[in-house]
Amino acid sequence: MSLKRIIEKSDIDKANIPSSYQILGDIMLIKFKPKIKHEIKEKVARAILNKIHNIKTVCEIKKVVGEFRQPKTSFLAGNGSFVTIHKEHGILYKLDVSKIMFSKGNLFERQRLIKQIGANETIVDMFAGIGYFSLGLAKFSGAKKIYAIEKNPVAFEFLKENIKLNKIKNIRPILGDCKKISEQKDMQNIADRVIMGYLPNTRSFLSNAFKFLKPKGIIHYHDVFRKDELWKKPIEILNKCADKNNCKIKIISKKIVKSYAPNVEHVVVDVEVSK
Ligand SMILES: C[S@@+](CC[C@H](N)C(=O)[O-])C[C@H]1O[C@@H](n2cnc3c(N)ncnc32)[C@H](O)[C@@H]1O
Repeated sequence: MSLKRIIEKSDIDKANIPSSYQILGDIMLIKFKPKIKHEIKEKVARAILNKIHNIKTVCEIKKVVGEFRQPKTSFLAGNGSFVTIHKEHGILYKLDVSKIMFSKGNLFERQRLIKQIGANETIVDMFAGIGYFSLGLAKFSGAKKIYAIEKNPVAFEFLKENIKLNKIKNIRPILGDCKKISEQKDMQNIADRVIMGYLPNTRSFLSNAFKFLKPKGIIHYHDVFRKDELWKKPIEILNKCADKNNCKIKIISKKIVKSYAPNVEHVVVDVEVSK
């Protein structure tokens, strides 16, 4: 339901009520238009708390920044806790919304992937975060083992907690840079499938993804492209990388996941690699 409907009986000017929000566990994150005064934002937040009783904290979210994709979040009203447990399709995700992002736009992609996994697959999740992809795959697909690599120590702690929270046994969490981990001999030629769920400039990690793969395997290559670059540019990048690594590739599917910015799309290309 829209926020305008939720708080329609308040005296807040409708123009100041944002249309975009996200609920994670008992926390609501809202994105305001620029130049709205802080006291109005607090008033909106308090009106939400009065109307939706299972929301305990309301925060403002601005952009997501940096290598660790950290959100710029600030407190507006409520009990002040940034840590929550979000439930989605039978998986519990514990996270701190002031330090860790959670993209609602990737929900369909998380579900789509689960349906593709064959029995006994070994998977490398190169950018595991708090377990966005790994947890669902471990619990609901037939995957034998998932190596979940995460560089940010804060996200990594939540990843380990979430593995326990969901009683999962087939994930091996690894703290580190997936580029460096792909250089380890014991991590090469091990995966039936590699997930590259990171933006932007994921292309700079493609050669590393090839290293994790067995002689034949699948890469889910996420990246960001302008609309006019689709689909020539991503396929060119994949072909170039395959040539550089003496591999052959076959494109299995290509899909827009969500809009990333005006005229720019987050896409995923599923590609079969033969070494
Ligand atoms: C936030 S997730 C992307 C969102 C996720 N795919 C989803 O479905 O919502 C990307 C993660 O990759 C991690 N990361 C960035 N660079 C990395 C690297 N070189 N090695 C391992 N993890 C990395 C970030 O810290 C972050 O936790």
